[in-house]
Amino acid sequence: MTSFADFGLPTPVVRELSRQGIDSPFPIQTATLPDSMKGRDVLGRGRTGSGKTLAFSLPTVARLAEAKTSRHPRRPRALVLCPTRELANQIAATMEPVAKALGLVTTTIFGGVAQSRQVSALNGGVDIVIACPGRLEDLLNQRVLTLDGIEITVLDEADHMADLGFLPGVKRIMDKTPKKGQRMLFSATLDNGVDQLVKRYLSNPVRHSVDDAAAAPPQMTHHILAVRDAEMKKEIVHALASGTGRRVLFMRTKHQAKKLAKQLTASGVPAVDLHGNLGQGARERNLEAFSSGSVKVLVATDIAARGIHVDDIELVVHVDPPAEHKAYLHRSGRTARAGSEGVVVTVMLPEQRGDVRDLTRKAKITAQPKQVAPGDSTMAGLVGDVAPYVRPADITPPQTQAKRGTTSTNGGSRASRRGRGTGSGGGQPQGSGQRTTAQRSSGGSGRSGGQGSGGQSRGGQPRGGQSGAGASGGGQGGSGRRRGGSGRAQRPAGGTVYSTSSSSR
Ligand SMILES: Nc1ncnc2c1ncn2[C@@H]1O[C@H](COP(=O)(O)OP(=O)(O)OP(=O)(O)O)[C@@H](O)[C@H]1O
Ligand SMILES: [Mg+2]
Repeated sequence: MTSFADFGLPTPVVRELSRQGIDSPFPIQTATLPDSMKGRDVLGRGRTGSGKTLAFSLPTVARLAEAKTSRHPRRPRALVLCPTRELANQIAATMEPVAKALGLVTTTIFGGVAQSRQVSALNGGVDIVIACPGRLEDLLNQRVLTLDGIEITVLDEADHMADLGFLPGVKRIMDKTPKKGQRMLFSATLDNGVDQLVKRYLSNPVRHSVDDAAAAPPQMTHHILAVRDAEMKKEIVHALASGTGRRVLFMRTKHQAKKLAKQLTASGVPAVDLHGNLGQGARERNLEAFSSGSVKVLVATDIAARGIHVDDIELVVHVDPPAEHKAYLHRSGRTARAGSEGVVVTVMLPEQRGDVRDLTRKAKITAQPKQVAPGDSTMAGLVGDVAPYVRPADITPPQTQAKRGTTSTNGGSRASRRGRGTGSGGGQPQGSGQRTTAQRSSGGSGRSGGQGSGGQSRGGQPRGGQSGAGASGGGQGGSGRRRGGSGRAQRPAGGTVYSTSSSSR
């Protein structure tokens, strides 16, 4: 079996990975590391949850450490661009421990928080900047930093970064980086949309796809629930939210996401929302409440569709079917990650039948629509055990300050999430299966003991990662729902549950 050391990764990095319980590379890592470690430009596609973050983080830190260049104030040496602040934080949490093992400093740059901390981090000298394009351009225009020392550039969620909304900014930023640097583009759906970027910025790139086509992971089960009308849809969605495990409900608009989270909370199912109308503090608090397990239901827009990893999300519900198949794959990919199982439900109104057929065909999902009604056997299987009712009056507002990671202490500071602010210990799921990437990669995360219960979702490679098989899709009827995971705790009765109320910008 190949080990990380076989790719020429420095010993402190291999040791750090092992401390986190990460001992053998996943297929996307095995496929790309030989080229990325040589400094080649790489295009990498692997399914959601297949380990792309480490696939680009490891060569980045290893090559920077090897380079003869050194860290200078306001002149970073590597740049990772990604679409959302939450993802920037998460990438930082993955990169920071392996960077630190080699004496490298990382920082995040994104909007919605004061720029002063980002500026002082840059002034202190950083090796790796993980950024969202908007704030980075702001700081570039203010001449707070220069990109002329960039040796390695990574575009995570590269096809999304090549979308209309991001492309002009991404180009302006890339144009400021030296031509001779290494460039790596990664995504679960790396399609021709990235051609413009490839032509302009990559030289002689090597493409690695560890699955034949953009498709959902095979351990993901898909259900399409046909509902009669909007009234029944509401009942079905509330029922799907009422189980005991972690679940994400995706909606098209910010307004609807906020409204549904409020309605669920009011009906005794504590839920938090995540969307662009929330201030950054609320965004971080809500994601933290969900990650820590104090709230089991996250109602989100597509802001949470790409890249976000929270362990043990057992169910993803497309409350509103996504606009296109790539969004279906990314949203769905919040479950069934790193080899674990997961269930994906699309709720479909009669008038959405055509659109859903189209997007599932393109996403290579074979599940057929099934007419459902509240309480029927399909629903019972999907909902599983119902969590205890939580009186809305018992829900207290957030006690914590949002962490705004801007320096290499990012991962460490975010580690304090665990067990924090939960009021009721009973509500805090035990075991390593309940951590975010940030929590896991930080010291004292429990992963240091090696495998532990993390083996539950970690023991194997993402199954089928190298096969050309499309999604299993089956998943019709019956439960198909993942059960019996470790330490699935009950919702905290009367504990501190983060409020969904938040100020709109
Ligand atoms: N070699 C490995 N061994 C064990 N766990 C790993 C390994 N590589 C990555 N992981 C874990 O797998 C999980 C998913 O990884 P990651 O978030 O990088 O997936 P991804 O491919 O970027 O997914 P997405 O397409 O949704 O962004 C993380 O919890 C990560 O720590
Ligand atoms: Mg990712």
